[in-house]
Amino acid sequence: MTAVSGITPSGHLTLGNYLGALRRFAEPTDKPGFYFVADLHAMTTLHDPKRLGSLTRETALLMLASGLPDESVFIQSAVPAHAQLAYLLECTAYVGELSRMVQYKEKGRGKPMTRGSLFTYPCLMAADILLYGAQRVPVGGDQDQHVELARDLAIRFNRTYGRTFVVPELHRATTAGRVRDLLTPTAKMSKSDPDEAGGVLRILDSPDVLRRKVMRAVTDSDATVRHDAVAKPGVTNLLEILGACTGTPPVEVAARYTSYGDLKADTADAVVALLEPVQSRYAELAADPRSVDKLLAAGRDRAIAFAQPQLDAATRAIGLRS
Ligand code: AMP
Ligand code: TRP
Repeated sequence: MTAVSGITPSGHLTLGNYLGALRRFAEPTDKPGFYFVADLHAMTTLHDPKRLGSLTRETALLMLASGLPDESVFIQSAVPAHAQLAYLLECTAYVGELSRMVQYKEKGRGKPMTRGSLFTYPCLMAADILLYGAQRVPVGGDQDQHVELARDLAIRFNRTYGRTFVVPELHRATTAGRVRDLLTPTAKMSKSDPDEAGGVLRILDSPDVLRRKVMRAVTDSDATVRHDAVAKPGVTNLLEILGACTGTPPVEVAARYTSYGDLKADTADAVVALLEPVQSRYAELAADPRSVDKLLAAGRDRAIAFAQPQLDAATRAIGLRS
């Protein structure tokens, strides 16, 4: 089963990105998947060209450093078929269904400076998926609606123009594994928060910074360690993080602690230990830019070899000569 997923380089990646995305991408599968830095998606909102370039590179290095098969990693804009197929899918999608996308409604609808690309973004994401005949699309719950649209577009295109695309399956994300912000534990830990945000653990934060942030995490005044997302969101988040780092169910983790201080200290240690190998592999790669260029070129070439025939088939089916 072929898997495809992307990460938008809109900030320095977080522990949430590692646990919810990178670590899952690195799980062994029957075939190497396609994992890319979605740099085209990062231009759907106001962006700084220099920062986009450096975050794209950093995200690519973190994908490689997380143990994904080398040839599976590439940069989206290096494969022109993504933007080309996206246009054909814009000619397949309806304004009505694009207007219903929650992300567009929350981030853009009704604002005068909303970019057109934010509205059509789900067509680009559908292209990302359909180009590789992906059945599996590991993403977080906020992306389910976009994967569903990719399915709808594939079905509609096949019905209208003849069988062209593999229809991706929808695997709803389990809610567990949603890492929350340490200072605002009701919100998800987000890479797009300001760089200095104290509640966001970045994969590349130094061990000292990681420790300090965990020790300052918000808890509550009822000093019992219990897994209860509604009454005790801060403590529950720490239990989930420690559980995810050590492969232990959070409720079981809770039973081992009587004080917040011990829970925080052990969580900090577990996060540092989890990220340490990724950080050292990242440092090795960063010190060897030529090897990285080679890896990314190999990823790009493999992606083009898969994507181009699929784009050609869609181009012919829709009535254009290719
Ligand atoms: P985003 O950072 O929202 O662009 O998401 C990139 C990938 O990381 C997606 O597959 C998300 O599901 C995953 N991800 C992002 N933030 C978190 C989080 N706080 N907890 C778990 N997974 C996350
Ligand atoms: N939109 C996704 C996000 O914000 C990233 C993404 C872009 C993606 N293209 C994709 C994920 C294709 C899966 C498949 O998280």
